[in-house]
Amino acid sequence: MDFDLTPDQRDLQQRARDLAQNVFAARAPEIDKTEEYPWDNAKALNEAGFMGMTIPKEYGGQGRSFLDAVLVIEQMAMVCGVTARIVVESNMGAISTVMRYGTEEQKRMAAEVIFSRADKPAICITEPEAGSAATEMTTRADKCGDKWVINGKKHWITGAGVSWLHLIFARAFDEDGTELGIGGFLAMRDETPGLRIGNREPTMGLRGIPEAEVICEDMEVPANALVESPSGFKRGFADLMNAYNTQRVGAGTIALGIAAGAYDHALNYALKREQFGRPIAEFQGLQWMLVDMDSQVEAARALIYKAAASAEKSNMGFPDVKLAAQAKIVASEMAIKVTNDALQVYGAAGYSRRNPIERMVRDGRMFTIGGGTAQILRTVVASQILGQKLPQTRDGYLKLAQREAADKASNAAK
Ligand code: FAD
Ligand code: COA
Repeated sequence: MDFDLTPDQRDLQQRARDLAQNVFAARAPEIDKTEEYPWDNAKALNEAGFMGMTIPKEYGGQGRSFLDAVLVIEQMAMVCGVTARIVVESNMGAISTVMRYGTEEQKRMAAEVIFSRADKPAICITEPEAGSAATEMTTRADKCGDKWVINGKKHWITGAGVSWLHLIFARAFDEDGTELGIGGFLAMRDETPGLRIGNREPTMGLRGIPEAEVICEDMEVPANALVESPSGFKRGFADLMNAYNTQRVGAGTIALGIAAGAYDHALNYALKREQFGRPIAEFQGLQWMLVDMDSQVEAARALIYKAAASAEKSNMGFPDVKLAAQAKIVASEMAIKVTNDALQVYGAAGYSRRNPIERMVRDGRMFTIGGGTAQILRTVVASQILGQKLPQTRDGYLKLAQREAADKASNAAK
């Protein structure tokens, strides 16, 4: 087993670090204050080749691995969580879904949108009544000749209002009203009749990127807007979630980077700040805090890198479901602890909005929620560990009951 990065990966990491430290670090407080999307950062990321780098070469990308993307995301998150999210969503999530399942036309279109507009696509799953219980979504797509007509409301959609490309999850119905299953539909903002951006959430952290409603009102997309997974609608939702494991690793990486950045600040401060005639880093109480912070960051990093690298060995090229969930649980919970401890090292200075630590505490708080809560991810891991699964939702229980009834009927017939 080789834990070393290749020379190319070290070079990539260094290039990301230079851009993050020299350009993005100084911009981060202003982005937090104005709550405006940093288009300049998105364009700089695009020019540096950090957007869409996991897109295969034949579509204009670099065909880089998820581990490569993770190395860049981590560096960005150390200085600016918002900028790191742009890297995640232009390399993982919706774009990975299109690149693995999409038609030639969809792949070319999605890559074009990222490279020509510095777009970070939006992934639209969550609804007001279907958060963790995503399979209970009610947004519906009705087949009408050569079109799909989509109705429903998504909320908490990252990038709503700034993203161009949207991957919208909806419950699909055939023309005769038969339910087909859950599918993902592509729609472009400003070019799709019936696609509307609703209210924006006033969020605690990561304020430079909007979280808002995406509303579909008799929204019409052509038949070829459906991103069809290999098993079609039959396992449509499961296939979409399999692709979504990429984004879970990406989100965990942002948490990792924010924590690593906060630790660096705390260490530097502890070496400089003097009390009782010596640097506070000389007090054993603080040394133990710093040691724990560093150890927890290292442990989370190892798990995140392992989860990202697991994609190389998997059939569909997505990270392993269990490792992706575990990596996000560990990194997101670690980030809450480490950013809070970093604030403690600063004393009152950490509680001031003049200091980046205060922002890092707010930004780092998100990752046990967005992208699947830490509780839900534990249910995902449990089903993998136990090799069986207790449904979490009404739909899940209905499906289980139907399976059990079918098994009983077939046993009785034997
Ligand atoms: P709920 O599902 O209502 O859960 C409430 C609480 O109950 C949580 O603590 C949860 O863990 C717990 N809970 C629920 N069910 C169980 C269970 N079975 N066992 C144990 N505990 C349980 N969604 C998108 O589709 N696209 C996005 O781009 C997006 N971006 C987001 C960005 C941010 C900053 C945030 C905060 C959220 C974003 N979301 C997005 C939504 C996010 O995915 C949901 O918030 C998340 O899935 C949880 O849903 P919920 O908030 O409705 O919580
Ligand atoms: N990777 C691969 N497959 C997955 C998966 C993942 N991360 N999550 C679920 N699946 C598969 C399941 O194995 C199941 O397949 P099966 O039919 O062969 O058993 C299928 O998808 C449906 O999942 P199931 O767990 O039966 O659904 P449920 O009705 O109990 O709902 C979830 C649970 C999947 C909705 C819940 O675990 C979840 O992930 N909620 C969070 C949603 C989320 O992350 N939103 C983020 C929006 S940004």
